[in-house]
Amino acid sequence: MPCTVITGAFWGDEGKGKIISYLALKDKPDICVRTGSVNAAHTVWYKGKRYALHMVPSTFIYEKCRLLIGAGANVHVQKFLEEVELTNVKDRIGVDRQASIIEEKHSIQDKTSAHLRGLGTTGWGVGPAIEERVRRTAKLAKDIPELQPYLTDVAGEVNEALENGKKIVLEGTQGFMLSLFHGTYPYVTGRDTSASAICSEAGVGPTKVDDVLIVFKAFITRVGAGPLPGEISKEEAIKRGWFEKAAGTGRDRRSAPFNFELAKKAVKVNGATQAAVTKLDILYPKCKGVRNYDELPEDAKKFINEIEKQTGIPVVLIGTGPDASDIIDRREHV
Ligand code: IMP
Ligand code: MG
Repeated sequence: MPCTVITGAFWGDEGKGKIISYLALKDKPDICVRTGSVNAAHTVWYKGKRYALHMVPSTFIYEKCRLLIGAGANVHVQKFLEEVELTNVKDRIGVDRQASIIEEKHSIQDKTSAHLRGLGTTGWGVGPAIEERVRRTAKLAKDIPELQPYLTDVAGEVNEALENGKKIVLEGTQGFMLSLFHGTYPYVTGRDTSASAICSEAGVGPTKVDDVLIVFKAFITRVGAGPLPGEISKEEAIKRGWFEKAAGTGRDRRSAPFNFELAKKAVKVNGATQAAVTKLDILYPKCKGVRNYDELPEDAKKFINEIEKQTGIPVVLIGTGPDASDIIDRREHV
C-alpha cells in the first residue's frame, strides 16, 4: 500500500484471491480495480463460504471498499450481474465506460476453433473478444443498457484517490507465464498479465505504484496445454496432495515442483518488491493454520528462505490454509 499491484508468478491459480481477500480485511483498501476477464476464477473463502469470482474484485469482503473494473478489462455482462447480486455490492461497484464486452459469440468462436482448442483455452472467448477489440468493432460497457447504473471513469477515480492518499489494490489475473508477451507462447492467454499491463488496464501510471506483490504457490500448477518444467504424473500429484481441479472450468490441473529459475524471472520482469507464498501447508502439513512465522517447522522456513535468497525480495505473506485469515503476515508496517 498505498498502491499495490497483485500479480501471479506462474500459470495462474497461485491463490491471488486468497491473498487479496486477506489484504481487504487487514489493510482496508479504499479501492480495488480488477483487470483481465471472465476466464479467471479467484477463490475467496470467507466465513465458511466459498466464492469463485470471475468479475467482482476479491476485496468485496471489506464492505467499505469501492470495487472497480478497469478500461482494459473485458466484461461478461451476465456473469457480472450474477456476481453483483451474489456478493451484494450493487452500491459500490463500477465499470469503466470503455471496458469492452465479451459476448456469447466469442465463447462459441473459442470453443469451435481447432487452434484454440489445441491450446486448451478456458472456452470463455477471451481471445476472440480481444481480437474484436483490436479490430475496433467491440461493444463497450457504455453501449450496454444493463451496465448504465455502474458506469464510471476508473482511471479518473483511482488517480484522484491516489492524490488524496487513499489505499489502492490493482488485482491482476492469471500468471506471468500465461502472458501474451512473456509467457510460453502460443500456450498463453490473450493478454499481457504482467504488473505493467495490470497498471495499464486500470489506468495507473508506473510512477504511481508503491509495491508489486507477486504471488507464488508452494508448488506449480497449470491447466491447458503447453510446457510445464518438472511436471509430475497425476498419480504422483494425488500422492503428494498437490492434485487440484480448476476453480473456473473444473478441469484437472497439471502440477510440478516450485521452480526457482521461473520465480527469479517473474520477479525481475514484474519488478516485484514483495512476495506471497500460498499453500505452504500442502507442502509441509505441519504448517496448517500456523499464523506465526516462528512456529513453522524448520524445513518450511528453509524453503521460504531459499525463495528470498534466490529472488532477492522478502516473502511477506504466507498462506497456511484456505480461509482469508489462515496467513502469516511478516510485514513490518502493520
Ligand atoms: P484463455 O485465457 O481462455 O484463452 O486460455 C489460454 C490459456 O490460459 C489456457 O491454458 C488456460 O487454461 C489458461 N488460463 C486462462 N485463464 C486462466 C486462469 O485464470 N487460471 C489458470 N489458467 C488460465
Ligand atoms: Mg483461478
